[in-house]
Amino acid sequence: METQEKKIILSGIQPTGTFTLGNYIGAVRNWNKLQEEFNCIYMIADMHAITVRQDPAKLRQNTVQAYALLLACGIDPEKSIAFIQSHNKCHAEINWVLSCSTQFGELSRMTQFKAKSEKHPDDINAGLFTYPVLMAGDILLYQSDLVPVGVDQKQHLELARNVAQRFNQRYGELFKVPEPYIPEVGAKVMSLQDPTAKMSKSDDNPNGCIYILDDKDTIIRKFKKAVTDSEAVVRYAEGKDGINNLMTIYSVVTGKSFEDIEKEFDGKGYGDFKLAVGEAVADHLEPVRSEFDRLMNDKAYLKECYTKGAEMAGRIAQKTVSKAYRKVGFVDFR
Ligand code: TRP
Repeated sequence: METQEKKIILSGIQPTGTFTLGNYIGAVRNWNKLQEEFNCIYMIADMHAITVRQDPAKLRQNTVQAYALLLACGIDPEKSIAFIQSHNKCHAEINWVLSCSTQFGELSRMTQFKAKSEKHPDDINAGLFTYPVLMAGDILLYQSDLVPVGVDQKQHLELARNVAQRFNQRYGELFKVPEPYIPEVGAKVMSLQDPTAKMSKSDDNPNGCIYILDDKDTIIRKFKKAVTDSEAVVRYAEGKDGINNLMTIYSVVTGKSFEDIEKEFDGKGYGDFKLAVGEAVADHLEPVRSEFDRLMNDKAYLKECYTKGAEMAGRIAQKTVSKAYRKVGFVDFR
């Protein structure tokens, strides 16, 4: 984080199991590249994770794994700030202040809240409802300029902007109003079993989702089972959701254009194509997998990294919290 002129990018990922190929292609892979151009802050959002029931031991394990995975994917803790959300108490502190500048009505309109409440009707907790405020805090604490977001988080970013503006209006300028950052190649990865739905950890069919720590055989097996269509021609076209998805994935991991891919598989069947995609993905992910294994065998190093990350994040965030406390009228005691 050498120069102050660079824009600040912040993003978070929830530590719910290992990342999917969708997370990797849609988000984490791009985070890696952003490190050169921006001051990047990456956070494992463990506080967000407990809005749904978690097994505590599993959450702890998943959080460390997610952190290791972040580094394995190329996030360099010397270039970026990489930390675990609960290690920086400022997130909890700013959350309360921002909650009081957020309207019940606007939270009620969050589509993810509605979807998650339907999914967990027995645990519609207040945290699930106010989660977008926690997320607004994540972003606003660091005066972030840009937030890389997928479509599912766009509404939450919009809320963060509204909350920032409302606070600034009420109390005077404090928060930078963040902009969405849309990566150039907005590759969205769909389920291999239902290519009209996003690839997701919660896919009912385990063959729909590739995890970036899946071994080569598993990856190839899942790709071989991918749902396609009956045309048997590898071409990108409307209505060919399965093939379009496989072509997108293949294009991202090999750098080939759709045109190149169509030529490469001209006259060949889907079987050959699926195998090629599976192999290309497995080869692409191999270095990530081995670096992950190496890091998980060096817990002391991981701890050193996330401790340092939390300290750096804390220093930046504390300035914002202190200013916010002063602005709302809390008494200074230092
Ligand atoms: N809510 C995001 C998700 O579920 C994760 C997240 C938490 C996040 N805090 C953030 C993303 C801040 C961007 C910025 O995927």
